[in-house]
Amino acid sequence: MAVPLLDLKAQHATIRDEVVAALMEVVDQQAFILGDPVAQLECSVAGLSQVKYAVGCANGTDAILLALRALGVGHGDEVVTTPFTFFATGGAIHNVGARPVFVDIDPRSFNIAPDAITPAITPRTRAVIAVDLFGQMAPIEQVSEAAQGRPVIEDAAQSIGASRRIGGRTVMAGEAAAIGTYSFFPSKNLGGYGDGGMMVTQVEALFEALMKLRTHGSRRTYYHEIVGYNSRLDALQAAVLRAKLPHLSAWSEARRRNAAYYDAAFADVPELVTPWIDPANTSIYNQYTVRVPRREAVQAHLKERGIGSNVYYPLPLHLQPCFAYLGYREGQCPEAEKASREVLSLPVYPELTTTQLDEVIAAVRAYFGR
Ligand SMILES: Cc1ncc(COP(=O)(O)O)c(C=O)c1O
Repeated sequence: MAVPLLDLKAQHATIRDEVVAALMEVVDQQAFILGDPVAQLECSVAGLSQVKYAVGCANGTDAILLALRALGVGHGDEVVTTPFTFFATGGAIHNVGARPVFVDIDPRSFNIAPDAITPAITPRTRAVIAVDLFGQMAPIEQVSEAAQGRPVIEDAAQSIGASRRIGGRTVMAGEAAAIGTYSFFPSKNLGGYGDGGMMVTQVEALFEALMKLRTHGSRRTYYHEIVGYNSRLDALQAAVLRAKLPHLSAWSEARRRNAAYYDAAFADVPELVTPWIDPANTSIYNQYTVRVPRREAVQAHLKERGIGSNVYYPLPLHLQPCFAYLGYREGQCPEAEKASREVLSLPVYPELTTTQLDEVIAAVRAYFGR
């Protein structure tokens, strides 16, 4: 039996009627730009994330870009972030005219190492971007401390609904940063039927700035206070996401169950390192990412048996050709580089059956001679 890395059709089959009804409502209204579906989704996501304000936008990349702009980051500024992330995190920094400063990761969680931030802070540092990779939050309180008063953006593209216990309180992904950002790319835990993104904040002035930035810098039609973007969340996507949102916590719970099932099944395979979840965190397992030796051979072995896997990410950002102008060399973020050589993500989506999980487990174990 083939087991894909992700099976969006399996999920769609369980919610088809709800989603189609939500889509048809927008179609029948012929109201495609912003409006109720977007406002209602913003309200629901603000509730989930325990924040005052949420602003929908076109995608998770724009969410970071608009967050940087709202915080006034631009030419001549530096932004400290992790090199072990999807390209968008670094690309957004470059695209507002600032300089990305990449620092190493905690090898256990793959998230930015707070200790590495402090020495990278300079008088030009205007912000820090922490990424909640693979579904678990970065230690946001430690990142904030290391940022020494500078605003932190939390790129929670992969982690909507994840949480962390901080000082006896449960803090949601995106909540504790100046601005938290989400992606609704179809492969995310809350994925649209196309592109979408959102930004959340507790600060009214930042909310106002984000609202302006997503509509060409204007809050009053045809009057533009600043130059912004056309980065609206599509009403059809908002309708889909509103239909899906009530299922999110059950889906994330199913992913945690699948992850625990793998953890137990791989416990006696010392060559394979299962994901480490910080005891303060509740992960939503956007990915179940292991470390393996001879990764390409493992991946080929799985492929032969019809099992999907993928490498997130094979080349850290500080070594990407487009960032050669920053002057980084191999060896400057050794943990991120090592992770890039070793990581492999296995299927963990909520609709996996026990038979499929067992299939993946048998194939992995067989590779290691068990
Ligand atoms: C960590 C991270 N940041 C940003 C993005 C960008 O989101 P989008 O694809 O919606 O632009 C993604 C996902 O693609 C991501 O995984």
